[in-house]
Amino acid sequence: MLCWLALLFLVMVALLLSAGGIWVYKTAPQDGQSPPWYPSPKGGIYEDWADAFKKAAELVTQMTLVEKVNITTGTGWAMNMCVGNTGPVARLGFPSLCLQDGPLGVRFTDHITAFPAGITVGATWNKELMYERGKAMGLEARLKGVNVLLGPSIGPIGRLPAGGRNWEGFGVDPVLQGMAAAETIRGIQEEGVMATAKHYVGNEQEHFRQAFEWGTPNAISSNIGDRALHEIYAWPFADSVRAGVASVMCSYNQVNNSYACGNSKLLNGILKDELGFQGFVQSDWLAQRSGVASALSGLDMTMPGDGLKWANGDSLWGPELTKAVLNGSVPLDRMNDMVTRVVAAWYQLGQDDRSRWPLPPPEGDGGPNFSSWTDEETGLIHPGSDDTITGVVNKFKDVQGTGDNAHKKIARQTAAEGIVLLKNNNDTLPLYRNGSRPGDTSKRESKVRIGVFGEDARANLDGPNACEDRGCNEGTLGSGWGSGAVEFPYLVAPLDAMRDAFDEEVFYLTDYPENDIPKTKVPELLDDQDICFVFANSIAGEGYLAADGVKGDRNDLYLQKGGDDLIKTVADGCGGGNGTTIVVIHAVGPVIMEKWIEHPNIKAVLLANLPGQESGNALVDVLFGDQNPSGHLPYTIAKREEDYGPSSSILYYPNDIVPQQNFSEGLYVDYRHFDKFDIEPRFEFGYGLSYSTFHLSSLMVQRKAPRSLLPEPRPNDTAASPPTFDSALPEPSSALFPESFRKLDKYIYPYIGSVDDARPHGKYPYPAGYDEAAPLSPAGGAPGGNPDLYTVHVKISATVTNKKLVPGQAVVQCYVKFPQDYVDEETGEKIDFPVRVLRGFDKFDISNISDGSHRRLVEFELTRRDLSYWDARRQNWVMPDKGEFEIELGFSSRDIRLSGAI
Ligand code: BGC
Repeated sequence: MLCWLALLFLVMVALLLSAGGIWVYKTAPQDGQSPPWYPSPKGGIYEDWADAFKKAAELVTQMTLVEKVNITTGTGWAMNMCVGNTGPVARLGFPSLCLQDGPLGVRFTDHITAFPAGITVGATWNKELMYERGKAMGLEARLKGVNVLLGPSIGPIGRLPAGGRNWEGFGVDPVLQGMAAAETIRGIQEEGVMATAKHYVGNEQEHFRQAFEWGTPNAISSNIGDRALHEIYAWPFADSVRAGVASVMCSYNQVNNSYACGNSKLLNGILKDELGFQGFVQSDWLAQRSGVASALSGLDMTMPGDGLKWANGDSLWGPELTKAVLNGSVPLDRMNDMVTRVVAAWYQLGQDDRSRWPLPPPEGDGGPNFSSWTDEETGLIHPGSDDTITGVVNKFKDVQGTGDNAHKKIARQTAAEGIVLLKNNNDTLPLYRNGSRPGDTSKRESKVRIGVFGEDARANLDGPNACEDRGCNEGTLGSGWGSGAVEFPYLVAPLDAMRDAFDEEVFYLTDYPENDIPKTKVPELLDDQDICFVFANSIAGEGYLAADGVKGDRNDLYLQKGGDDLIKTVADGCGGGNGTTIVVIHAVGPVIMEKWIEHPNIKAVLLANLPGQESGNALVDVLFGDQNPSGHLPYTIAKREEDYGPSSSILYYPNDIVPQQNFSEGLYVDYRHFDKFDIEPRFEFGYGLSYSTFHLSSLMVQRKAPRSLLPEPRPNDTAASPPTFDSALPEPSSALFPESFRKLDKYIYPYIGSVDDARPHGKYPYPAGYDEAAPLSPAGGAPGGNPDLYTVHVKISATVTNKKLVPGQAVVQCYVKFPQDYVDEETGEKIDFPVRVLRGFDKFDISNISDGSHRRLVEFELTRRDLSYWDARRQNWVMPDKGEFEIELGFSSRDIRLSGAI
């Protein structure tokens, strides 16, 4: 009987598999959808980097082949102190580089600042703060001995609202992402730390991002059209390159069915030729999927060094790269370019300055002064290997700044300015410290009764770092999870800050910081309250962690842990049905609020995004009006999930041997989709209320340069030529392991074990298209692209006025409507444009109201790129030369106050 049952079970499983998943293993992967682009452009041709390349060439010339390989290959997972470490060339004073996450602070260490996450920073729309936060992160990284900080994150851009890592970036718009990235990069790099723009490109969801992580043998392919790639996904990378970013990280996924870290069109063609990137491309951790092919395609550094499998020490480069150069399959000049790019970036950031970057012991006390792998003072020096040597690994260096320079100030200000006031009926907020409203002379007989509800209001009872990489939803939500999170030095929970801030003489505060209020307790907890605060949240994070059924990407766009029901219960019951309810949301992205947003007792709603360590303090600043809310939505909040469009859902189940995700919406992501299909959102992109009322007037739009279809031709002359090196290959035996070398298990060395396969042999089977040099892009010619793309064509000015006598900050947004009915004369094709696109923004502090100067001058400049579309046929940016552009200024994508045609 048992045998029969077992057999039946097996038959059932086989049937299910053949009907469902297993068929995907039978089909052949698609190929050839991403065009070849060879040879890899060499670095060292542009003015800004010329000096650094000159110095780098002088150093690289002295290096042996194994020394060069050592710089391009990580030493293996957990082999040294950082999440990524390159091999040093001690003989020439070139150190091992420490690469450490991440986008909101220095990961895996102590005494740092847990800044608000990118999405909160985007919500501030404050460029100065973006820069300040970047600078503070850069300083913290430098003082911890980090050479390369793995941030900012500008991909995913957020085309899928449930995407697990959208929160690491700044919002669902290329201009918002691009400007925020550029400011962040300037800040980080001003402190001498190399920034990393990641993930290039198309890593829009966590499911299937990596081969094998999700049970499929291949990573997902993001299939992106050329126009959307340029106008949406690569745009912020162009801004990053223009800002001088030292490194770009290629992503796990495939793009048009070619792995992003081995995609010659993306790396050689777009990044290095068209965008003129002079720094180095590093792989995401194990995103490299080929050896020779990825070198030829433009990858310069493999991280963490291990190849197709985690922590097995079997690199696709290291000894394999040494061999590949010796036998001629990777040309020596590609190898030289790879290493020179890394060394040049090091010089470019001034990391050769020993006073700022001392050498590591025994010469100095430089290098990382923390270990990613233990919190103890002493620990293993090479924890990923069999080596048992220990030493002091954590020096607990406090890098948080003190006094006026304490970074927590920037963290608090960013968190406060990142709070978006979504609803504020009858001016419910701000609250007044004396409990009454201005002008209200009636003396209150009793204290104002405040109730605080919801688990998201309180601290995690096990501490803010109880879950690995913040991979759980316990207590208040300060950040998403994964490599983009850090160890909180502390996390001020809202409830604690409120207890401190509400004067006990005036307010009587009670709390029930849990999500399930038993029905029987409702009257007791809610009936007598005047004001009820209710907190709820929604988390997501990187795909290697899962919590409460959320595997990286969110399962839906609703609040988690019963948040919606809790809010309804509180709103219904507060003050016996007559109280005022104020909702506070912490979230990684948009949440659908339709179940309660129109509830008559819900008078105010605050979206506090992901506020970092200063969460509660920042919230209290806004509640009492010490900070006038000035956050605006960095994405659209829809009424229904479907409203984001048919291609906006996560692909949760594989649909092919290489899961295929077509970016079929093209340019129509987020507000562009809502505008095109005239869908009313709940709160539109760019929306945010203030305690002030702002007014825009006196628009002036001026043309500053003559209109013409195409930019000036790409400049022919570059400031410098790439460095040249001796072209003779070394004798293979020179790359053998030195005699009596003590190898550590799984540690990745550049040496080879034998000279077999290390001599030139027949022609290597190069990829299709390798032998034909790709034409240079007309859109290239400088870091960020053809310099003429940045010529200012339109200047805009206006006046913004603060109508209320309350200090406040106004976010003015500049949108462009391209000419309607524009037809390309050469092809007769009508060019489709989104209704409007964001092209600029700024925040204006109008605090100085006592002297009557409650207005500020608003100015924007629009460049040729801002007024062009990407023409896939011409492979260039084209500025419509007929029809009118409409320039709009407003306070959100749907609150346009002024418009002018040009
Ligand atoms: C992430 C990167 C991160 C790297 C190193 C990867 O899993 O995708 O963003 O920088 O790990 O921690």
